[in-house]
Amino acid sequence: MISRFLQIMFVMQLVYSFPLLAQTVDKESLLHKFSFCLVCHGYQAQGNTTVLAPPLAGIEPWYLSSSLAAYRAGTRHTSAKALEMQAAVRMLDESDEPQLMALLAQMPTVREEAEAASIQQLERGAQGYAQYCAACHGVEAEGNELLAAPGLARLSSWYLQSAWQAFREGNRGDSQASSAAQQMRQYSQSLPTDLAIEDVIAFLSN
Ligand code: HEC
Ligand code: HEC
Repeated sequence: MISRFLQIMFVMQLVYSFPLLAQTVDKESLLHKFSFCLVCHGYQAQGNTTVLAPPLAGIEPWYLSSSLAAYRAGTRHTSAKALEMQAAVRMLDESDEPQLMALLAQMPTVREEAEAASIQQLERGAQGYAQYCAACHGVEAEGNELLAAPGLARLSSWYLQSAWQAFREGNRGDSQASSAAQQMRQYSQSLPTDLAIEDVIAFLSN
């Protein structure tokens, strides 16, 4: 009787551990396959300040494809900032994108230690965000696919700052770019000067 019970347990364990095993092997092989992306973007796709590569963990699949398409077409930036990525994207076969998305979806979104901010600054930032950004980027900064606006909550403050600056200075979103990028550029340039973007960024990264 006991041995019959053990046999059943053994079989059940096999049945349950196989998919798990397959999953881990899968993740390992994907990590290997896309290691050339993670060299710059961080082993956990958490971003890397030394090469200014943004976090990719938790990136929306639709935004991953649209930004890769922009690098592929050479329309993301007019500045040298995007050159590395333009070269890197050539090493990625478009048909591998679904696998890459599956890998990035498994990565934990670890936030960097946010810089200290006062309560007043966070309140101003929350207000500025709600008034000027939430309509497109979502109330929780989770992104909005219909408006092609990516999530901002998963990004680090240094990258938010540099991406904002790229739009505002007109290096990103020029006439060659997608209409989404052009829209963000126009918007960033039309904002009242009394909106302190540092406050919004402090709010987003806290
Ligand atoms: C040599 C370093 C390097 C490598 C290798 C690299 N990247 Fe990047 N990546 C960057 C930098 C730097 C940026 C920011 C460029 C900018 O500001 O436009 C970036 C930006 C991106 C973005 C835009 C993210 C956003 O929030 O808009 C995506 C997506 C991306 N990389 C994916 C990849 C993938 C996929 C690979 C592997 C095929 C890869 N990267 C390899 C350096 C790199
Ligand atoms: C009218 C809609 C709209 C509004 C309002 C808007 N954005 Fe955007 N934003 C976009 C779109 C669309 C994109 C994607 C552009 C692209 O694909 O290159 C974007 C991209 C960005 C990015 C780049 C993210 C990345 O991963 O590279 C940042 C940073 C950003 N927005 C910040 C803001 C902030 C801060 C505000 C408020 C002050 C704001 N946006 C308001 C539409 C908007």
